[in-house]
Parts: sequence; structure tokens; C-alpha cells
Amino acid sequence: MTISTEPALSAVEQLFQERRSARAWSAEPVDDDLVRHVYDTVRWGPTLMNTSPLRLLLVRSPEARERLARHMSEPNRDRVRSAPLPVVVAADTDFHEHLDTLVPHLPGARDRFADEATRARIARDQAWLQAGYLTVGLRAEGLDVGPMSGMDAAAIDADLLAGTSWRSLMVLNVGYPAPEPTAHPRAPRLDFDDAAAVA
Ligand SMILES: Cc1cc2nc3c(=O)[nH]c(=O)nc-3n(C[C@H](O)[C@H](O)[C@H](O)COP(=O)(O)O)c2cc1C
Repeated sequence: MTISTEPALSAVEQLFQERRSARAWSAEPVDDDLVRHVYDTVRWGPTLMNTSPLRLLLVRSPEARERLARHMSEPNRDRVRSAPLPVVVAADTDFHEHLDTLVPHLPGARDRFADEATRARIARDQAWLQAGYLTVGLRAEGLDVGPMSGMDAAAIDADLLAGTSWRSLMVLNVGYPAPEPTAHPRAPRLDFDDAAAVA
């Protein structure tokens, strides 16, 4: 038996250093309840003025899945077809409708977001932030996720999100890890000194 002299990775280190973006999964299904549980946790992550514009469409029916697959770019189509649960991650451009609930300490907060273009920008920025929380939250529950933005977002909005104020950002394929891990070696990341400065 070889005893490792490497210090054990913390839970956070494991989440970021060991988990990869998935493109294949085991056949085990993912329950809506687990996604609901993760959402219930990550919704507490910070957003600008608690605007919380992240919205999720869990694509369950074979018919909706095929419609979604056709809106993806070619290499992503079969991933949508084979993932246990594709989730359309979207931003609600009418997030301000919920601000009486989300910002009770600031009466009239919704009126600050009357301008549609500003609202669309804030919705996108803040939903992306929440999408990051969601990605890590799903991984923390033992799921493997494959984020994909190679898609015709306008077509998804006009089809699966028609009649809503939701605008798609990416598709997150969700499932349990495949028996064989991702084949290609992991690409490096920037060192702290290349990515950060001290002023
Ligand atoms: C917003 C976003 C969009 C992505 N779009 C695609 C995509 O369209 N197709 C794809 O195969 N991978 C896509 N990826 C996966 C990235 O290529 C992957 O996360 C990155 O290369 C890091 O890989 P690793 O997690 O294995 O280290 C996307 C990732 C993110 C976060």
C-alpha cells in the first residue's frame, strides 16, 4: 500500500480542481427534486439588489428535447439528445416584477428598472452570475454538468421560451458521472499573477 504524502484536497478544491465539464453521463436519471434542492441552495448567492433573474427550463419530454437539440450547434446536438437532463438556463428580462417580494426593504424598487434595455443587460449579467452558482451547486451534489452556449439562442427563445420574458443564455446538460472520465487532458488555467493585480 502506498500512502500519499499529498495534502488532502478540501471540498472546494475538489469541486474546482477535479470536476470537469461533462460531455457524457451514466444512464442514471436525475430527479427534478434534486435540481429543486440545488436551486433552493444556490438562490441565496448574491445578485445586484437581489434581482435574482435566473430562470430554468428543465427539458423532460422527448419532443421538447428534440426541438432543443435542433437549435444547438452541430457538435452539441447529440449531447442534448444523450444527457439525462438538459436544462435551458435563462435570464428573466422582467425580473423587476418580483422586486416587491425580493426587495421588501426598498419600496418601489421595481420602478428603478423601467428602462427595458438596462433591464435586459442587468438580467443577463446577474443570471450569468447565478448560472455559475448553479454549476458549482450541481457539482457539489455529485452531478456532472456540461455547459453549452453553442446554440441559436434566438431560436430557443422563439420556440421553447415563446410567450415569456425569459431569454436563454446556455444549456446545462446534467447527469451523473460517466463510467469513463473525459478523455482529453485538462487545459491549464491562468496563474494568479497573470489574472490578478494589486493596486
Ligand atoms: C458558458 C459556457 C459555454 C460553453 N459552451 C460549450 C459548447 O457550446 N460546447 C462545448 O462542447 N463545451 C462548451 N463549454 C465547455 C467549456 O469548453 C469547458 O467548460 C472548458 O473548456 C473547461 O473544461 P474543463 O471543465 O474540462 O476543464 C462551455 C462552457 C461554458 C461555461
